[in-house]
Amino acid sequence: MHRMVGMTVALCVAGASVTALGLGWFSDKLYNRVRPGELAYKPMEDMPPRVDMASIQRDWPAGFSEAGEGSRVIAYHRDMRGKAPVAVAGSAAGAAPAPPPDLGALLASADAGAGKQKVQLCMSCHDFSQGGPNRIGPNLWGVVGRPVASHAGFAYSSAMQAHRGSWSYENLFAFLAAPAREVPGTKMTFAGLRNPADRAALIKYLATLGTGAPPLPQPKAIAAR
Ligand code: HEC
Repeated sequence: MHRMVGMTVALCVAGASVTALGLGWFSDKLYNRVRPGELAYKPMEDMPPRVDMASIQRDWPAGFSEAGEGSRVIAYHRDMRGKAPVAVAGSAAGAAPAPPPDLGALLASADAGAGKQKVQLCMSCHDFSQGGPNRIGPNLWGVVGRPVASHAGFAYSSAMQAHRGSWSYENLFAFLAAPAREVPGTKMTFAGLRNPADRAALIKYLATLGTGAPPLPQPKAIAAR
């Protein structure tokens, strides 16, 4: 008889603990519990990029059943990618944007020799010799001053063809900082050279290839006199 009571108590205890464990598991599923050492919110970097629903609705292709709709939507999203939300005036904690670097001054002090070294970064895709071949990217002999997307025999992306103008010092300076930002949809999958001095040196070297490059822009201090 004593054994029976003992067994019953043991079974009850076992049953109760199984139930407790089960409830714990179940409530874990129900509520997203924050464990110690974990953040209760997602840090900014983990958030998906902000999507401007208003402009998507506004710009969403109206004739959605037409042929080519898919590529239009994809092109649109590619265009939107990486774009920062429009800043609300006065919201940026009083931080004035840094003045753009004076390209004239940067180029004047830039070292074309150092630029020649930097060009190694481009050589997996570009040839820089006179009459040289197109590779993954077009031949870049004489590119400074050359109309955009104009090198014979190279199949430019439609994004690059739409970029118009010519490769002035200013355009190259902006493009090489972040190709995909300057020309959204470009085939040039190169992240960009962030350092302005590096870019200036590289462009100064590019200007020595061929005779088509316009004269270097004047530093602002001199131009203002
Ligand atoms: C991963 C390959 C790759 C690398 C690396 C690369 N490019 Fe390009 N580049 C391309 C491609 C592809 C195009 C054509 C882009 C298009 O049609 O959208 C291009 C286009 C260009 C153009 C426009 C040329 C024209 O005729 O309009 C310039 C200028 C240029 N690249 C400069 C550079 C420089 C300078 C570097 C090194 C800092 C570099 N690229 C690195 C692939 C590359």
